[in-house]
Amino acid sequence: MRKPIIAGNWKMNKTAKEAEALINELKPLVAKSKPEVVICIPYTDLWIAKQAIEGSKIKLGAENVAWADSGAFTGEISAAMLKEIGVEYVIIGHSERRQYFGETDETVNKRLKQALANDLKPIVCVGETLEEREKNKTKKVLKKQVLVGFEGVDDLSNVVIAYEPVWAIGTGKTATAEDADKTIGYIRSLIRKTYGAEVAKSLRIQYGGSMKPSNAKELMAMRNIDGGLIGGAALKAEDFAGIVNYKG
Ligand code: PGA
Repeated sequence: MRKPIIAGNWKMNKTAKEAEALINELKPLVAKSKPEVVICIPYTDLWIAKQAIEGSKIKLGAENVAWADSGAFTGEISAAMLKEIGVEYVIIGHSERRQYFGETDETVNKRLKQALANDLKPIVCVGETLEEREKNKTKKVLKKQVLVGFEGVDDLSNVVIAYEPVWAIGTGKTATAEDADKTIGYIRSLIRKTYGAEVAKSLRIQYGGSMKPSNAKELMAMRNIDGGLIGGAALKAEDFAGIVNYKG
């Protein structure tokens, strides 16, 4: 059985003080949660968040990690820096990184290897744009993102994939549960081809893109969907908790 994982992606939101307040609000609301609960948050919030989540089930994640150990990489964050604070998860290859900051499948691959080498659990994002979808290129795009992104990576036991159709992120448009399930099933089949049936069966794949309390239950009921990567709705304790507690 794959344990569901609900991860918040705060993006560039919340100062450290705001983060502390949000976590304090969130803690009691997710105290009895069944899924694994993660918050991936800005670097400047990590330190205070580590203290704020103390005694709760909430796990800490960052929104990126550098591929190098240290050195002349202005603006990047190293695995060691994250580890020292107690970060457990890192988002890699989010579509906003790909769209605005030149992230490619090749750099995703380098970051992924670095995360795994340092015992950080990566949440690797894949997904097609609206244009790619309309041109019927979804499978082709996903195949390249998975094959190049995972090249040379042998062990997927600590990896989570997030399927986030770019047209559904922050737009209020959600893929239908059936559609998301089918596409995630395709991603699983790609993993099966490379890594075999056992790995494909145990790999957790999340859906992301305008997930909210009102659609979480339907999405989570799907065979292939093992969780969510939550943007906008992760910024309000009640909404995020509503997704985490989707079973009621
Ligand atoms: P959204 O963002 O939930 O606001 O659509 C999801 C994401 O970008 O991870």
